[in-house]
Amino acid sequence: MYRLASGIAILLATAACTTMEDRDGMPIVTEPMVAPILTTPEAQDNLTYAEPEKARVTHVALDLALDFAAKRVGGTADLRVLADPGDERLVLDTNGLEISRVTDHVGRDLTFEIGEQVEEGGKGAPLTVMLNGVRNVRIHYMAPADAEALQWLSPEQTAGGEYFFLFSQGQAILNRTWIPTQDSPGIRQTWEARITAPKPLDVVMSGVAQGEPEDLGDGRRAFRFVMDKPVPPYLIAIAAGDIDFRAIGPRTGVWAEPSVLPRAYAEVGDTEEMVVAAEELYGEYRWGRYDMIVLPPAFPYGGMENPVMTFLTPTFIAGDRSNNGLVAHELAHSWSGNLVTNAVWGDSWLNEGVTTYFENRIVEAVYGKKRAEQEAALMYANIQEVLSEVGNDAPGTALSTDGGYELGSAIAYDKGAFFLRTVERIVGRERFDAWLQQWFDNHAFQPATSEMFYDDMMQNLVASEQEAKAMMLRDWIFAPGLPSNVAKPEPAAFAAVDAAVEAYAASRVIPAAYSGWTAAEQMRFLDNLPATLSAEELAQLDASLGLSGTGNNEILFLWLEMALENRYAPAVPLAEEFLARVGRAKFVRPLFGVLWDQGDWGRPIAQRIYAKTRDSYHAVTRAGVDRVMAAD
Ligand code: BES
Ligand code: ZN
Repeated sequence: MYRLASGIAILLATAACTTMEDRDGMPIVTEPMVAPILTTPEAQDNLTYAEPEKARVTHVALDLALDFAAKRVGGTADLRVLADPGDERLVLDTNGLEISRVTDHVGRDLTFEIGEQVEEGGKGAPLTVMLNGVRNVRIHYMAPADAEALQWLSPEQTAGGEYFFLFSQGQAILNRTWIPTQDSPGIRQTWEARITAPKPLDVVMSGVAQGEPEDLGDGRRAFRFVMDKPVPPYLIAIAAGDIDFRAIGPRTGVWAEPSVLPRAYAEVGDTEEMVVAAEELYGEYRWGRYDMIVLPPAFPYGGMENPVMTFLTPTFIAGDRSNNGLVAHELAHSWSGNLVTNAVWGDSWLNEGVTTYFENRIVEAVYGKKRAEQEAALMYANIQEVLSEVGNDAPGTALSTDGGYELGSAIAYDKGAFFLRTVERIVGRERFDAWLQQWFDNHAFQPATSEMFYDDMMQNLVASEQEAKAMMLRDWIFAPGLPSNVAKPEPAAFAAVDAAVEAYAASRVIPAAYSGWTAAEQMRFLDNLPATLSAEELAQLDASLGLSGTGNNEILFLWLEMALENRYAPAVPLAEEFLARVGRAKFVRPLFGVLWDQGDWGRPIAQRIYAKTRDSYHAVTRAGVDRVMAAD
């Protein structure tokens, strides 16, 4: 037996808790599951104020009203608390919440105190409640109109143009701007919610809807949701708007605004098949339903893995399912991230890297090896590009970091995925898949750290000292750069495209085959064209390849980026239209960045456009663009 190199994480297990009554005095039907917390030093989350070893929240029951006119949500949050007698201080995370009262479940006031607000990084302020023996706490509160987790859209920002729309984004630490709880990925909680909204809007959440909405007779309806599996609170999510649903398979379906639904439905038509493929790879899908909502284009991300209700940008819709790696990715999080969760955000690769690997396996199973290898090759190029920019020894290029996401997706996502791919190549798929499935099974509904991942591989996968050496596990996880044993992508994946790139660089030959290429091939081509191109050359590329008219936003983005980098004025109106329509940070931030880098030419354009679009962006996107446009 091979010996462990480092200590074993300690799980603080818990006894069953007492039955709680709900607000009508009715006992809650099922006893919710209580998940353990980790107590090792590397599992300490410095982005939370919570002291979960002393008192922790195990269940959250929200009763909230959505006020679209005031852009506010408010009501009560009932928290069930687990604490030893004598540990009477409950510390919660809040950011900007107006707390009017804290009571026990029969309405007796509890003493509370809001500590100092930390602006940096959005940590917010601790809310400390003196429990005095109470284990069911009710917080009466309102979230402010500028709560960062919430985006309130005007009717003009929707496809229908008629109704307001609301969505939330919790990851990483935004949910404390609308829910007062212990907002740490290592502190799992079951939850339920009653949400009221004006007719005719529908509400969806990242929990299972309970029955039909109740008509309250005052122009409003109440919607109920339950998540009976403990989840980290960043996974609590809500959306409300004029939305319809269409079923895909027996447990899969999609929500979208009525006018978007047909295109959305056509794009995600492979989802049931993806769930089946994912289950064949790594075991049962444990969340019941897998539904998605395609949001308005202001949504700041491509997708967000909210349990039972993945949130998606509409910008992935291309008409040919070519950007469906996104769906595979968010689905894969149902195992990596939602079942087994990084205990701290510095170990994000445990969520995103494992998911990106898993995503590629789903793509391979559903769309074939060629597409999977091409997508892997794009990821590899992304790693190379970032490493050549920041250097192989930049500390932020280790998988396990104490920092955030400054390097985009190259490290946590792509290097993380190539780590797993490398290990897979060394031990073979059969052993690797069995190992990864046991990792998910044995840590289901629990937090994990890089050290635990390493220990688990040493214990349950590595068969000999020689194999351990070949894997370079600690280098992969804890050292910067790319280890020498990386399983490179097939050089053949893009052989034809790379030849076309060279031909273009040498003699400006535009590949006749382009229109027949896969989206990944087209992206590879556009991404590798010479950095400097003349207006004539850009005009010719646009005309021959139909770039301005592409229906694929990933390709449109690459075209606009390339055009603006070369100060190509004819592309400015299209860029302006795109930046006014789309709020996805991955597209918006770099385009403003490129304009900003173009000094005298680009900065006035960037400022003119941003003056018009800033208010329409989500706080996440806005913060990113603000940063870009503050640079010298
Ligand atoms: N969980 C992420 C989104 C996220 C990351 C939100 C960090 C907040 C902080 C999600 O699963 C994701 O990775 N989305 C990607 C798409 C994916 C295909 C790479 C995105 O939004 O672009
Ligand atoms: Zn992800």
